[in-house]
Amino acid sequence: MKAVEVKHLYFRYSREWILEDVSLELEDKEFLAIIGPNGGGKTTFLRILLGFLKPTKGEVKIYNKPPNKASYLIGYVPQYTTFSTDIPIVVEDIVLQGRLRKGKFFYTKEDKKIAYEKMEILGILHLKDKKIKNLSGGERQKVLIARALSVEPKILIMDEPTSAIDIKGQNEILNLIESLELTRIVVSHDVKILFRKVDKIAYINKRAIIHEAPQLNIPKDRHFCEVELIDFLKGEECGI
Ligand SMILES: Nc1ncnc2c1ncn2[C@@H]1O[C@H](COP(=O)(O)OP(=O)(O)OP(=O)(O)O)[C@@H](O)[C@H]1O
Ligand SMILES: [Mg+2]
Repeated sequence: MKAVEVKHLYFRYSREWILEDVSLELEDKEFLAIIGPNGGGKTTFLRILLGFLKPTKGEVKIYNKPPNKASYLIGYVPQYTTFSTDIPIVVEDIVLQGRLRKGKFFYTKEDKKIAYEKMEILGILHLKDKKIKNLSGGERQKVLIARALSVEPKILIMDEPTSAIDIKGQNEILNLIESLELTRIVVSHDVKILFRKVDKIAYINKRAIIHEAPQLNIPKDRHFCEVELIDFLKGEECGI
């Protein structure tokens, strides 16, 4: 069974097409990196995979299910941390939210164990009783990643997971994402991600250009120019 199947997807909020004829397939446990310019439609694409937005045309399946029936399979890290910061909610509560299901409003011992395990992995266990409003941006982002992992998802969808995190932390998080044995979709503006063990790369700017990463042979050991690399992924001529 494919993890993700997108066929001839079109999407518009109003008159203008935001996504045009996007097709993509991902196998179970594959790692897809998505890059592309601001406003190119990356977050919109993720929101369609999550079932928050409906395709205007075309078909989307997550493990053979329509996205709105697959939410229990998905862990999601949104692009911006929009906590209402006046509520006195603490880190542990946010991470535990990953254990909620439709119709389930309580937590078991097992749920707590899983949430603690994920906080430990992200190095934020010591913050568990801290109010979310008192955390730094990077710490909040790690809380959201721990929450997404607490779902124990089959597919992890992350929108700029390292944007607020310092260089050392970025590497740690990319190492973690790389090591996870699940299907991963990660949007990033940081081309460093392309040097990771990604299986596919999608360049999304209204239309999507999909590359099989191993065939790209991106030079890992010599100087490269980011602009040239992006042009290359867009299908334009470049020197590498
Ligand atoms: N709710 C909305 N209603 C109308 N237009 C929207 C809405 N959300 C996004 N857009 C528009 O859709 C386009 C794609 O936005 P999207 O957020 O998907 O881009 P993105 O690739 O994630 O960009 P960024 O790199 O800046 O995060 C933009 O032109 C944006 O203005
Ligand atoms: Mg975005």
